[in-house]
Amino acid sequence: SQNTLVLLKPDAVQRKLCGDIIQRFERKGLLLSALKLLQLTPEMAAGHYAEHKGKPFYPALIEYITSGPVVAMVLTGSNAVKIVRTMMGATNPVDALPGTIRGDYATVMSCNIIHGSDSADSAAREIAIYFTEQEIVQYHLEDCYE
Ligand code: GTP
Ligand code: MG
Repeated sequence: SQNTLVLLKPDAVQRKLCGDIIQRFERKGLLLSALKLLQLTPEMAAGHYAEHKGKPFYPALIEYITSGPVVAMVLTGSNAVKIVRTMMGATNPVDALPGTIRGDYATVMSCNIIHGSDSADSAAREIAIYFTEQEIVQYHLEDCYE
């Protein structure tokens, strides 16, 4: 199985959507392996979004992602990276299909509710920003819940 890093961005927390979004992932069958609420420092945000440094939207992106608490989690399962990206919908909510998280809850790119790692390599890099190894809990499901 595979790990992926999901962030429920400050707008998701403000709008009280966290429970709903986590429930979608649980129903899908992904396992929660780590979970916390925190407010990103500018340094953490710069590390997270290093690939976008220098782009026109970068300052607004850092301001947005540090504007309030986020919920960070590690989700685990077969093809977890791709499954989460599919469930999130397109980056621009204008293009996100109904039934996806961004399609159901967001209207503008600058407030698009959720982040999910875009590859296994990104996931490993991003998980290390938010969680220590000890905070990632590996467990198996009891037979009756599989
Ligand atoms: P994340 O999961 O947040 O990384 O989104 P993504 O992988 O779907 O998109 P990407 O990594 O390309 O961009 C990161 C974030 O920057 C997006 O979620 C948007 O909030 C923002 N962003 C990306 N491109 C643009 C843009 O052209 N304009 C604006 N205003 N914001 C953008
Ligand atoms: Mg991205």
